[in-house]
Amino acid sequence: MNIAMVGSGYVGLVSGACFADFGHDVVCIDKDQQKIGRLKDGIMPIYEPGLAELVAANVKSGRISFTTDLAGGIKDAQAIFIAVGTPSRRGDGHADLSFVYAVAREVGECLENDAVVVTKSTVPVGTGDEVERILQDSQTNHNFAVVSNPEFLREGAAIGYFKRPDRIVIGTESEFGRNVMQQVYRPLFLNESPIMFTSRRSAELIKYAANAFLATKITFINEIADLCEKVGADVQDVSRGIGSDGRIGPKFLHAGPGYGGSCFPKDTLALLKTAEDYKSPIRIVEAVVKANETRKRAMGHKVIDALGGAKAARGKKVAMLGLTFKPNTDDMRDSPTIAVARTLCDMGVHVSAYDPEGMELAKALMADVVMTNDPYAAIKGADAITIMTEWDAFRALDLARVKELVNTPVLVDLRNIYQPEEVRAQGFEYSSIGRA
Ligand SMILES: NC(=O)c1ccc[n+]([C@@H]2O[C@H](COP(=O)([O-])OP(=O)(O)OC[C@H]3O[C@@H](n4cnc5c(N)ncnc54)[C@H](O)[C@@H]3O)[C@@H](O)[C@H]2O)c1
Repeated sequence: MNIAMVGSGYVGLVSGACFADFGHDVVCIDKDQQKIGRLKDGIMPIYEPGLAELVAANVKSGRISFTTDLAGGIKDAQAIFIAVGTPSRRGDGHADLSFVYAVAREVGECLENDAVVVTKSTVPVGTGDEVERILQDSQTNHNFAVVSNPEFLREGAAIGYFKRPDRIVIGTESEFGRNVMQQVYRPLFLNESPIMFTSRRSAELIKYAANAFLATKITFINEIADLCEKVGADVQDVSRGIGSDGRIGPKFLHAGPGYGGSCFPKDTLALLKTAEDYKSPIRIVEAVVKANETRKRAMGHKVIDALGGAKAARGKKVAMLGLTFKPNTDDMRDSPTIAVARTLCDMGVHVSAYDPEGMELAKALMADVVMTNDPYAAIKGADAITIMTEWDAFRALDLARVKELVNTPVLVDLRNIYQPEEVRAQGFEYSSIGRA
């Protein structure tokens, strides 16, 4: 079938490429001319493992194309996906739906055949109703349905998750919508991926509830880690001990510098705004948001402490290894490293950094940080090293070489990727999260 994907960012491009790989004909549309120009030249605008190969293979077989022309791109589509950004609105934390509504208006003006309009962007409850109203107002003569199909892919392993999802959620009360979505996901039906049909409002809420729950799990283990430090327990053991309980599960129980990325921070805030609007507070998520916000800056202070306190830290040099909010992505949106770097720079610390994929985007967010070409260049002359992101490249640093290069051998491991005894045996002062 013919699919149009409006918005060719992390979600739109991965989804479009995977749909094309299933055998559909996909047009990826974006208003960003540079992005589309690069895609046409075979250059990926984002880093996602396996994406370049998947896109190239489907370009070659003629199943995926790229355009900035929305009217031309949706002309023959039976399913038109909206996969544009829904960032936090400046000032109040509500999801900014202006991009979604702008696409809906444009689609309404250009619709040339019957089609299902599918919201893949993460949108608050009731957004589908508004998209439907916009399409009705456009007075199109064509039959349409508005469906919610939230996306659960994980950056860094997005293709695998898209093709083998834990579940697919489709929110629609329309028979037409249901039939078209069944065809879209037919290859996954055949694969026995669980597909849930729900009301549109339930589908919209499922996405926020899922992200808020995961953010809560992370924040829970982060606070348990703080307690571990105070009582002399080891958070790694505690995490294994609770995570092996099937009712709890081991994922999202790794203590760290706080959650970040393009989804959890904005989605928890947006959920709170919905809860506020409907006078149905979700106090647990309120606490999570607050705890995570303070944690990021507290991590900066942890590094300052490792340097001997605020006075001693001034003028010293810290090497940050990792900048992205998690490995295998170049996504810098709301990465906790931004707050940590800012805290250090505010306190007169010089920061050098290395990240395998994130430096290009990080530059604009961390003007005072010196970016380097490899981890050892960042480390040279440092008074402390912080591991901010658990990239594989940092798991087996040559500690003897590191020791030669640094000014003082201090390692602050905010991802717990090293064994304390091993690092200390090499003469390092070592601190991590929730471990003695
Ligand atoms: N990134 C993730 O891991 C992830 C996972 C699940 C859900 N989501 C949700 O998916 C949505 C998209 O996220 P993303 O990370 O792909 O965002 P993104 O910023 O990477 O991509 C959005 C794209 O939409 C384009 N765009 C904006 N307005 C447009 C218009 N009028 N016409 C055509 N193109 C337009 C932008 O140029 C941009 O390329 C968000 O709602 C997000 O919350 C993201």
